[in-house]
Amino acid sequence: MLEEINLIYARSLDALEAAKSMEALESWYRDTLSRKSRITLMTRQVGHLSLEERPVFGQRINQIKKALEGAYQERQSSVRAAELQSQMVDESFDVTLPGRRQFRGRLHPATQTLREINRIWGDMGFQVYRSRDVESDEYNFELLNIPEDHPARDMWDTFHTTEPGLILRTHTSPGQIHAMREYYPEPIRVILPGMCYRYEQITARSEIQFYQVEGLAVGKNITMADLKGTLSDFARRIFGADRKIRFRANYFPFTEPSAELDVECILCDGDGCQVCKYTSWLEILGCGMVHPTVLRNGGYDPAVYSGFAFGMGPERIAMLKFGIEDIRHFWANDLRFLEQFG
Ligand code: DAH
Repeated sequence: MLEEINLIYARSLDALEAAKSMEALESWYRDTLSRKSRITLMTRQVGHLSLEERPVFGQRINQIKKALEGAYQERQSSVRAAELQSQMVDESFDVTLPGRRQFRGRLHPATQTLREINRIWGDMGFQVYRSRDVESDEYNFELLNIPEDHPARDMWDTFHTTEPGLILRTHTSPGQIHAMREYYPEPIRVILPGMCYRYEQITARSEIQFYQVEGLAVGKNITMADLKGTLSDFARRIFGADRKIRFRANYFPFTEPSAELDVECILCDGDGCQVCKYTSWLEILGCGMVHPTVLRNGGYDPAVYSGFAFGMGPERIAMLKFGIEDIRHFWANDLRFLEQFG
C-alpha cells in the first residue's frame, strides 16, 4: 500500500503540472484531494494494515496530502497569473494604430454672435428679458405706435396664424411693452434677444427668420446722450476701440427722435468696397428715444420717465464680422459653411 500511495503521489504531481487552466485544476483537485478521491479512500483502509505498518503509512499519507495541497496552491496562483496575462494581451490595443477622428459639435455662427452681443450687454448691466415668438397684432404693432392703417406697417411683412390677431413677431420690439408692463414703476435696463419672422422673398440679403437683439432702458432723466454713449460703448466693445462710428437720423414709429448707427466698414477699413457699397459705412442698428405713446402704453408717464431703445440683427453683424456674403447660408444647414466657425 505504501508503494501504491507513492505512485499515486508521483502521478498526481505530473497531472498537476499538466493542468493548464483553472478549470483543469479544479477537476484535478476533485480527483486527487476531495473526500471521494483515491487518497482519501485509502486513508480509510488503514485498518487493514498491521499495527507496525499503520503509523508509517499514516504519516506518509499525511505528508503526501500536505505536499499535494501545497503544490496545488502554488500551481493555482501561477495558472491564475498566466490566465490574467493572456487576458490582458487579448484585450490590449495597438497603440501604434492611427486614432479615430472625434466629431465635435460647435455653436452656430449666429448663436456665437448672439452670445457675444448678450455678453457685452451683460457686462454693461443689461439683463436678458425673454419675450414670446407668437405675438398679438396689438403688441407687435398697435402698442408700438403703428396703427392698422399706418404706412410703416409696410416695413414688416407679416406671417399670420390661423387665429385672427395672432402673428409671428416681425421684430423683438413688442417685448418692450411686455417688459415695461412687468417692471413698472421700476427703472428698466434690459436686452430682448430672440427670433423674428417676416413674410419676405428670401434673397442674399433677406431671410424669413432671423435673430434680433432689442434693448430698452427706461428711467428718470434718461437722455439722447445716454443713448449715444451707451451704443458707442457697445460698438467699441464689439468692433474694436479704433472703429469709427456715426449716428444718422432715421424714422421709426416707436422712437422719437430715431437714428441708425453706422460703423466704418470693417472689411475695407473705410476705403470703400462692395460690402459697404463704396460708402465706407455699414449700418448695424436702429435706435431712438422711446416714443411718449409707447412709454404710456407700457404704463410709464412720459412726463416723468424717458428711455431709449435699440434693435440690431446678430446675423447681419456676423456677416460683417466674418465677411459672409449671403444671409441664406445661416439656415441652409450646410456643414461646409457651419464648420468654418469653430
Ligand atoms: N424693430 C426695428 C426693426 O425691426 C428695429 C428697431 C429700431 C428697434 C429702433 C428699436 C429701435 O428698439 O429703437 O427694424
